[in-house]
Amino acid sequence: MRIDIITIFPDYFGPLELSLIGKARASGILDVRLHDLRSWTHDRHNTVDDTPYGGGPGMVMKPEPWGEALDAVTADPPGGAGQAGAAPAVPRLILPTPSGVPFTQAHADRLAAEPWLVFACGRYEGIDSRVARDAAQRMPVEELSIGDYVLAGGESATLVMVETVSRLLPGVLGNRDSVDQDSFATGEMQHLVEGPVYTKPAVWRGHEVPPVLLSGNHGAVDRWRRDESLRKTARNRPDLLERMPAERLDRHDREV
Ligand code: ADE
Repeated sequence: MRIDIITIFPDYFGPLELSLIGKARASGILDVRLHDLRSWTHDRHNTVDDTPYGGGPGMVMKPEPWGEALDAVTADPPGGAGQAGAAPAVPRLILPTPSGVPFTQAHADRLAAEPWLVFACGRYEGIDSRVARDAAQRMPVEELSIGDYVLAGGESATLVMVETVSRLLPGVLGNRDSVDQDSFATGEMQHLVEGPVYTKPAVWRGHEVPPVLLSGNHGAVDRWRRDESLRKTARNRPDLLERMPAERLDRHDREV
């Protein structure tokens, strides 16, 4: 997968050199390219913002540098212009914004199947709205929010989304099962969070690991995990349980 990130703070993305994503980049699974929006400004001060039309507080990001940046970055599709007969990859533009659609694991699953994502990180009061409208004439555009709070800019939201999507790419995680058992994973876990986990030693500071996990009885372990997951979801995320279709609950679940 290719991911382009346009930002006025390319240094913000240092963490993408580390851990799973760093390895995925080194092995060629993930091609992340960082772009400094200011390279598409033409004045002495590399201006990227201006006062909002209609008045009000703060500054708005100017459309011209964004338009040029998106034109330049999307002019060079991954794999070249496509083999004879094959259409070149189309980028999907992601605009992180607190006014966007809430980003969920289902978005991550869908985005992980795309060949090419472009993230446009806004700062200040946001990017002039014509940028999204203009880009939408050439590529799909999605406004996504990572939660009901306001960050100082789209950079940290982009880090969150890039990490969530990247770990789903084939070859990034050692064990594919761990994705299926994650909280929110499509399937059995869709409306549940994961329950508690334990490792050795079996007793630590007097706290014991639940005996069923040492029993070797896989059926009993699966049932215990589901019960714990239901309990934790009821405690921390009752909203998820309320949205769970009734047929997803078995008889034993209803007793938990
Ligand atoms: N930019 C500022 N706040 C944000 C949020 N909650 N999600 C995505 N982008 C943002």
